Amino acid sequence: MKHFLDLSQIDKTELKNIVNEAKRIKSNYIKDKKVSVSQNSNAADKLLLMIFEKPSTRTRLSFDLAMRQLGGQTIVINASDMHLGKGEETIDDTAKVISGFSDIVMLRTFEHKTLVELSKLIQVPLINGLTNHSHPCQLLSDILTFEEKKGSIEGAKIAWIGDGNNVSNSAIEAAVQFNFSLNLCVPKNYMPSKKIMSWAKSQKGNINVFNDPKKGIKDVDCIMTDKWISMGDKVNIKKKKSILKKYQTNDKLLKLAKSNCLFMHVLPAARGDEVTDSVIDGKNSVVWDQAENRLHCQKAIIEWCLS
Ligand code: CP
Ligand code: NVA
Repeated sequence: MKHFLDLSQIDKTELKNIVNEAKRIKSNYIKDKKVSVSQNSNAADKLLLMIFEKPSTRTRLSFDLAMRQLGGQTIVINASDMHLGKGEETIDDTAKVISGFSDIVMLRTFEHKTLVELSKLIQVPLINGLTNHSHPCQLLSDILTFEEKKGSIEGAKIAWIGDGNNVSNSAIEAAVQFNFSLNLCVPKNYMPSKKIMSWAKSQKGNINVFNDPKKGIKDVDCIMTDKWISMGDKVNIKKKKSILKKYQTNDKLLKLAKSNCLFMHVLPAARGDEVTDSVIDGKNSVVWDQAENRLHCQKAIIEWCLS
């Protein structure tokens, strides 16, 4: 069974192949200038079940479109409409039922352990559509976007600025697996997962921590950021925002990076918090490419899971 749970759990070569497959799929899409159904897709006539415990625009739309364009079908369920996790039915029993009805499942959930538990019980491939711990699908799209603009990401220098959250955890895993260096510009109070940091160290990953973003973004090829307050964050919002204030990507900070440095944002953005309008709408920003590339990457992820 090929589950897509976290970048650290998938072989480096396979991850590169998924990104290359996404590039191939995208090149056909552009050439045809129309929505094209893949001729020999593993997803043809298959059913993707998507379960959402949290809201989503990009992940939901891109997976839904991806599956339809590959010749498959989709069902989307809000977790609140299911028995899962409410004590009404064991996760084991739910897993048996959804394995019987669908060919592949995507889950967006709060607790990462729900995803891991389900992956052990389910009999079809499972994709991590974001948990409080990680967001691996997003990083593949970001790597595709980087490589379209600047060539191979191997050896590139990237900065993560702001909150040390689920997406930053996946960025650390991506840095190790795709061999780029990552400057983590994150305040001490909001560092990424210790477990992932020590895994990266054990893998000899090039991860450097800068509490001062001005130092961390010097000479980087790309800046990545995300909302300061993630879905389900149980924090003192006022305090967190005041600590993160100096980690805002604005024109002044951007000037310290390379002039052709890419600006990436996971989206949705809280304009005025982690990024100013001038940066997100400015010439360095590639945020809309990142969002569009989710579609091509989801197709490649689905194909990989079903291969
Ligand atoms: N970037 C991302 O996953 O967006 P959504 O929350 O809209 O799916
Ligand atoms: N870190 C954000 C990402 C949203 C796609 C969150 O978890 O809310």
